[in-house]
Amino acid sequence: MSQKIIMNFTVPGDDFTRAGEASSAVKRALKQLGLNSDVIRRVAIAMYEGEINMVIHANGGEIVVEIGSDDVQMILTDHGPGIQDIALAMREGYSTAPDEVRNLGFGAGMGLPNMKKYTDEMTIDSIVGQGTTVRMVVRVPQS
Ligand SMILES: Nc1ncnc2c1ncn2[C@@H]1O[C@H](COP(=O)(O)OP(=O)(O)OP(=O)(O)O)[C@@H](O)[C@H]1O
Ligand SMILES: [Mg+2]
Repeated sequence: MSQKIIMNFTVPGDDFTRAGEASSAVKRALKQLGLNSDVIRRVAIAMYEGEINMVIHANGGEIVVEIGSDDVQMILTDHGPGIQDIALAMREGYSTAPDEVRNLGFGAGMGLPNMKKYTDEMTIDSIVGQGTTVRMVVRVPQS
């Protein structure tokens, strides 16, 4: 796999029932490519959490996934409210999710900490009032 495979997704901002479609599609693609199962699990968890965050906190956005032989890179871009204090948002248990979202089982404040935990690299760039870009990389162990 010397060429990179690129997958593009638009994440709708208003539809909880469809949230997770992009990460499911990437998981299927990685399985089909026969990638290491631990890599698949980590990509699926991290991307799902990022995708849900775009739906809950940012009214949707776009995701680009680049699958290479060395790593899987995910870039999640939204045009939501942005994150004022990234260090605070990264803390376990910190959440601004409203009650109606908590009633659906989200809002434990564990998404960003888990994205960090399950990836090898994660950077967040955010401008308040403009949006947020999250870049994550999961490395593929070389055998
Ligand atoms: N894309 C985003 N745009 C704006 N704010 C965000 C975004 N992603 C996360 N945040 C902010 O960071 C906080 C923490 O995010 P995190 O994913 O850790 O928890 P959560 O989404 O509130 O709950 P959980 O992920 O456990 O369901 C959110 O409550 C929100 O305030
Ligand atoms: Mg979250």
